[in-house]
Amino acid sequence: MTPEPRVIGLGLDRVDGPAKVTGAATYTMDVAVAGLLHAALVRSTFAIGTITSIETAQAAAAPGVVAVFTHHNAPRMKKPSWNLITPPPPVPLQDASVHHYGQYIAMVVAETPQQATAAAALIRVEHKAATASLSLDAPALKARSNPYFLDAKRGDVESALAAADITVDATFSTKANAHNPLGLFSTVAYWEGGRLVVHDSTQNPYLIRDSLAKVFSVSKDKVQVLVPYVGGAFGAGLRLWQHVILTAMAARAVGRPVKTVLTRPQMFTGIGHRPATIQRMRIGALRDGTITAIDHEATSTAAKVANVLYPVTLSTPATYRCDNVRGRDRQVRLDIPSPAHMRGPGEAEGNFALETALDEVAYAIGMDPIDLRMRNYAKVHPQTGLAWSSKALDECYRQGAERFGWADRTPRPRSMRDGHWLVGYGMAGVTYGHFQAKCHASLTVRDDGTVLVRSGATDIGQGTYTVITQVAADGLGLDPANVRFELGDTDLPRAPQAGGSGLATALSNAVRDATVNAIAALLSLASADHASPLHGCSARDVVVAGGRIHRKDDASRSETYGAILTRNGRSELTVQGSSAPSRAETGVLLGSLAVSRMGRAGRRLVEATHAIAPAGAFAAHFVEVRVDPLLGRLRVKRMVSAVDAGQVLNEKLARSQIVGGIVGGIGQALFEEITTDEGSGRVSNATLADYLVPVNADVPDIDVVFVGEPDSDNAVGVKGIGEIGLVGVAAAIGNAVHHATGKRLRSLPFTITELM
Ligand code: MOS
Repeated sequence: MTPEPRVIGLGLDRVDGPAKVTGAATYTMDVAVAGLLHAALVRSTFAIGTITSIETAQAAAAPGVVAVFTHHNAPRMKKPSWNLITPPPPVPLQDASVHHYGQYIAMVVAETPQQATAAAALIRVEHKAATASLSLDAPALKARSNPYFLDAKRGDVESALAAADITVDATFSTKANAHNPLGLFSTVAYWEGGRLVVHDSTQNPYLIRDSLAKVFSVSKDKVQVLVPYVGGAFGAGLRLWQHVILTAMAARAVGRPVKTVLTRPQMFTGIGHRPATIQRMRIGALRDGTITAIDHEATSTAAKVANVLYPVTLSTPATYRCDNVRGRDRQVRLDIPSPAHMRGPGEAEGNFALETALDEVAYAIGMDPIDLRMRNYAKVHPQTGLAWSSKALDECYRQGAERFGWADRTPRPRSMRDGHWLVGYGMAGVTYGHFQAKCHASLTVRDDGTVLVRSGATDIGQGTYTVITQVAADGLGLDPANVRFELGDTDLPRAPQAGGSGLATALSNAVRDATVNAIAALLSLASADHASPLHGCSARDVVVAGGRIHRKDDASRSETYGAILTRNGRSELTVQGSSAPSRAETGVLLGSLAVSRMGRAGRRLVEATHAIAPAGAFAAHFVEVRVDPLLGRLRVKRMVSAVDAGQVLNEKLARSQIVGGIVGGIGQALFEEITTDEGSGRVSNATLADYLVPVNADVPDIDVVFVGEPDSDNAVGVKGIGEIGLVGVAAAIGNAVHHATGKRLRSLPFTITELM
């Protein structure tokens, strides 16, 4: 018997593609249920203060209006449970205080969306505003040190900087960015008896379920969250937002289903944003290219209302072999809407400072940027001294450089031209920490040979439907056409968030476990059955292929899953599967902190418990830019990205993931910035016309190559790739701009005025 080609890794088309392009896919805003009402939200027009009067009589009397809610009449609700990583917002409409521009202060519910919107405009509000702190450079702001208790250090940074041959000491800044998935975040809620059903644009359905259960004082099994499709999400869907609470509240109060679809401007204030940062990076190096000190300090914006775990310097100590490293985060709390995780949260900002400063070191000592990185290559996880579970960053540099043609680069700035365009080559490396959470799935084999896999995960566009279909087909030796995967329902086995680049790892391993359990269950039926050709076989005596279990000693003796079930009088068989993070995950974090707190004693402690292997994904981005020296126009001409993604689950979708991330990185580098009015905090560019994102003309050909081996930390060998495509792009572009022009840009987004 020849082994079947593996289904894992093949570039299959999206299994949900036809539903999406024919309109059959039901996104939250498409949900239609009998008696559905529509809500419009009214937002505060000032940052901080008190509502002194709110006049709703006219709105309440407007055509089609069923209810108007303000803090005067909204039902009292309980606070959702607090959690460190994705904290809940304050419960809305509970009092007259306003904590940021755009806070919801009223909700109108009407028969049509148009009636709700028209009535909302009739609400009159008077307020007393106080002076708001809105930006990082607001005077007299105090930064809070080590806000996440994750600051790390090793060695003696100050002495090493003093002894270095050269030092770079530079300040970087990055601006607030908005989440702008095309799909407007929406919620539909209805109550059936004491049971709450919620359709929501979320990446984290179980968090929504558990939080709403708390808010409305019902048990978790009385809340169901449904999200078969999400119209894109880059972290905004990891949290519970106020409009979700309000929609469920209104549905209960009026006794009918209610739908809320955020407007585009509301998407800028109601679902989080990438915080702004100011970072100081100091690097010390010897003439031979040895980096002797890295000191990274980052201050980022946070909201007074609800905060989010957003360490910017976390990756820095894990990135290069260097004896003396310090990563320190600071946080300034402002009267702004809550920041949220946004693709590569913290890493995207921190990497920009680190990888740009390294380029500065390379120029200062006259060394090629790749040689500098290889000279300081971290063969082991540098903070703990432990071996990586796998790492092919060196291959990323090598293969990326080769495909890009890095050897053609003449090192001197302004030395390459094409006509009047200045040409620049730049690169950056990425080290991205591994994340995995507990995950469950069920798997049903039917007597017709088809398989149904279920787990309450989400597909935000990254391809969960497809890759999990492949993992199940691979594990059972089936054609993927015989496998269906259902997700997006909290009544299914519990899955973690689609976030932190961790879902594919968690879910693929849970489903693989389910396939192993399914084969074991089928085999035990067959093995006990004298009529089966597999009689007496145990797991090590058989292989699966073509939807059959075969004996290893005689492959011609085999049986289909369907035949095993039928002869045992069963129409189907259901098994469970699960996965959990290896000990590495918490071990590495605790080990890193032990080294930070206890120095060499901490390192010895880690070595004594060396059952842990740090895991991560790695990448190198290579960019060619063109800069028009007279007009300052900057074009990204082409890009090559080499990614160590471990076991790629679907070559085509993995490539799309990386390309999508890179486009986000081009946005961060060249365009994206939330601008606000002084005093009120009003977002002054809250439309897709004013908030710039890359369009096709801004995005060049992107060549993605995957390198490396399946990771040893999880059975399937996966590394998360949801975010690594974005991280590093800004530094690579900035380094290319420096090569083209001799100008060092340290603030994102880069602007035309800096290049003239
Ligand atoms: Mo991502 S910021 O974990 O959606």
